[in-house]
Amino acid sequence: MSGDKRILLIIGGGIAAYKSLDLIRKLRAAGLGVRCILTEAGAQFITPLSVASLSGEKTHMALFDLTEEAEMGHIRLSREADLVVVAPATADLMAKMASGQCNDLATTALLATDKPVLLAPAMNVRMWEHPATQRNLAQLQADGISIVGPDSGDMACGEYGPGRMAEPDDILAAIEAKLSPEVAAQPLRGVRALVTSGPTHEPIDPVRYIANRSSGKQGHAIASALARLGAETVLVSGPTHEPAPPGVRLIRVETACEMLRAVEEAGHVDVAVCAAAVADWRVASQTGSKIKKTADGACPELPLTENPDILKSIARSATNRPRLVIGFAAETDNVIAHARDKLARKGCDWIVANDVSPETGIMGGDFNTVHLVSAAGVADWPPMSKIEVARQLAADIAKFFDPDRG
Ligand code: C5P
Repeated sequence: MSGDKRILLIIGGGIAAYKSLDLIRKLRAAGLGVRCILTEAGAQFITPLSVASLSGEKTHMALFDLTEEAEMGHIRLSREADLVVVAPATADLMAKMASGQCNDLATTALLATDKPVLLAPAMNVRMWEHPATQRNLAQLQADGISIVGPDSGDMACGEYGPGRMAEPDDILAAIEAKLSPEVAAQPLRGVRALVTSGPTHEPIDPVRYIANRSSGKQGHAIASALARLGAETVLVSGPTHEPAPPGVRLIRVETACEMLRAVEEAGHVDVAVCAAAVADWRVASQTGSKIKKTADGACPELPLTENPDILKSIARSATNRPRLVIGFAAETDNVIAHARDKLARKGCDWIVANDVSPETGIMGGDFNTVHLVSAAGVADWPPMSKIEVARQLAADIAKFFDPDRG
């Protein structure tokens, strides 16, 4: 799915509307544009300001708004999206949709759209099970509308059963499956993947550590892209500010030694992608208490010792080697030559090489320009977002495991 796909999100009036705020955040993190319609009832639960702040766009509410009609009519609003999502879809919204009523902006946009529609129903269990709602559901499905959820469980009203809105991660997965055929095909289902990401922090004493500038953005995006194609994905990450990617088992670590242990404990995988910027050295003997300045001004001696090479230990494992091992080479000069050398030295199958000189802005930024180096040669990828690099890499991994499908 390209990064320029757009969602029109219609937020109905149910307590589950609070989860739609999280959904907006997740949609944007997945590289999707989000424009929102908040119904009058929806605005009883969340505010137009929180919706606008998270979506980065004006929140649309009124059908007969002269300025709005001049700037963006309700027809255009419904047509400019690639997918219309209703979350929460209340019993009332479903009833109106099933009978073609359109007396407000949300229902008018739903009747006017020429795009696919996905509903995430949310309501009390009795309302969900009522024959009227089930009749409306059947009608909507017959009209070609897709449904995600509802889940079963405790409800805000104190009852138990089906009617809880699907979790934002599940709605996101359903949206991605609707937008991209490659996601719907789940080509990596049954494949176990391991990704390392982020920097490591190597303690000097209880309050200080050695670190590097890795943000974890690329590694996290790769874990997310693999899970999106159906891989059972474990992400072992050093300290980052990145949120846990949906559908991924995240194991947080601090040091290189902890990262190696977590990787070993993850068990056998089919593909390993080592994107972490693991510190090459750690302080040989850490002190249990904070190192103090001394009266004579002498600086502390901090002898270093080499950290384990996680990529190498995975790639050279005699008993547990994944079928495909991929490393990264972040370089500031001679990018391809260093990558080729790394490929041989570490024993991995592919190296994703990039130039991380400060002027490129790649370290910590959202974009990346990479070269995929393997025994077969070098593929120069055009500059793209880290999410797109991750998706391209996941697509290449899917091709490796199922060349016929690729
Ligand atoms: O040559 P260098 O060690 O920088 O190679 C980088 C590659 O090796 C990356 O894929 C990185 O994740 C991996 N690596 C590792 N463990 C280390 C050092 C690097 O897995 N201790």
